[in-house]
Amino acid sequence: MKKKTIKIGLIGVYHRGQLGLEAHRPEEGFEVVIGADVSKDKFKAFAEKVPKAKQVLDWHKVINDPEVDAVFVTVPDFMHEEVACAALEAGKAVYLEKPIAITIEGADRILRTAYRTGSKLFLGHNMRYFSSILKMKEVIDSGMIGEVQCGWCRHFISYGGDAYFRDWHSEQKYSNGLLLQKGAHDIDVMHWLMGSYTKRVVGMGMLSVYDKLPRRKPDEEVDVYKIWSDANYPPVELSGFSPVIDVEDHNMVMMQLENGAQATYVQCHYAPDAERNYTFIGTRGRVENIGDFGDCNIHVWTTRGPRATPDIIYHLKPETGSHGGADPKIISAFLEFIRDGKAPSTSPIAARMAVATGVLGHYSMRHGNVPQDIPSLEPELIAYFENGQKKAVKAAPAKKAAPAKKTAPAKKAAPAKAVKAAPAKKAAPVKKAAKRK
Ligand SMILES: NC(=O)c1ccc[n+]([C@@H]2O[C@H](COP(=O)([O-])OP(=O)(O)OC[C@H]3O[C@@H](n4cnc5c(N)ncnc54)[C@H](O)[C@@H]3O)[C@@H](O)[C@H]2O)c1
Repeated sequence: MKKKTIKIGLIGVYHRGQLGLEAHRPEEGFEVVIGADVSKDKFKAFAEKVPKAKQVLDWHKVINDPEVDAVFVTVPDFMHEEVACAALEAGKAVYLEKPIAITIEGADRILRTAYRTGSKLFLGHNMRYFSSILKMKEVIDSGMIGEVQCGWCRHFISYGGDAYFRDWHSEQKYSNGLLLQKGAHDIDVMHWLMGSYTKRVVGMGMLSVYDKLPRRKPDEEVDVYKIWSDANYPPVELSGFSPVIDVEDHNMVMMQLENGAQATYVQCHYAPDAERNYTFIGTRGRVENIGDFGDCNIHVWTTRGPRATPDIIYHLKPETGSHGGADPKIISAFLEFIRDGKAPSTSPIAARMAVATGVLGHYSMRHGNVPQDIPSLEPELIAYFENGQKKAVKAAPAKKAAPAKKTAPAKKAAPAKAVKAAPAKKAAPVKKAAKRK
């Protein structure tokens, strides 16, 4: 029997909003039927790809459209909580871009709304589909480098001045800060590969470059994708920055993980090059990525020797599709999740734990570098999301034994059939990498 076509609505159709157009696969039974954005000029690519789809200027119309089964939420971070909760309340399956929200309360409200309504929630952590990340995870999970005790990520961002200091990203009230905004990806990757979540974080960070450069006028329109260029360097020669900049342009956090391992993440927005450079060091070796997508290598050392001569080099070839081929893969994962119930490798709980670490890392760096403890989540919420967004079936009350018939010999009461409630699992990413001390 032919499956029903799943109808999709997009909220935010320009910039990252174009990701939702990847989900328009009529031959596979998925159709984008409506999109919302703030002005008509944002719909050019949308109109080219889905000319028959409705174009609206009020996102509520997407959520209230009875034809729509699933919604992409690809609007700025400060809108995630409101839009995602409204979509979940309306019974739509939701693809929500990272970060899940800009506060811990906002993230928890989204998780609780998904739990209460039963509407499906999927988080757009596309780095979990990067070949470089998957290869490092494979190396760690194989035991090749022993038990991972520490992880570091150095994040160089050459395009920081183009992308993050000209629009809403530059203000705490809209993004909270760039440790959270960008680092939600990397903190999530480190949690995933190290098999545990942060329980305590301490941060340092500064705004040291972009606040000293010429600003644009408050009413001046800006399209960062039109300004974006490798020629924009060095930052001190650039202009046109946001009238309000109160986020740090370098961020550094240290994280104590629940399983005993420790990690650091450092991020700089005025570097000349762009790369996320991770290394994970275990009791038997070290793994590091050289390049994060496209043509890149994964180096592994399992014997002593110079950094220049790793024991193993995995060469990864470029793949087609944005973000090194990860975007088409994550869209396929979302579509399989909502249609077939196939578990994705992204996780709403993990997305919340990354945001909690980012929020409290920022709090620490802004309040005397004091370590902050990450608040835990309700076990039933964790169990729900780890159980593929299905509520555990409650144990049925034990049946009373039927009174034995007078003549027949008394039978033993049959044990009451009961479905065991799944034990609440500890908040841990998909797979434990290795046992910790
Ligand atoms: N996973 C990734 O690799 C990745 C990459 C880039 C951005 N993002 C995330 O995607 C989201 C969007 O980022 P962006 O850089 O495209 O932001 P953006 O400011 O360009 O906004 C995206 C779109 O939302 C629209 N929009 C804004 N307010 C709206 C409203 N009230 N109603 C309808 N549409 C509205 C904008 O006009 C724009 O078309 C953010 O949450 C960001 O963190 C993720």
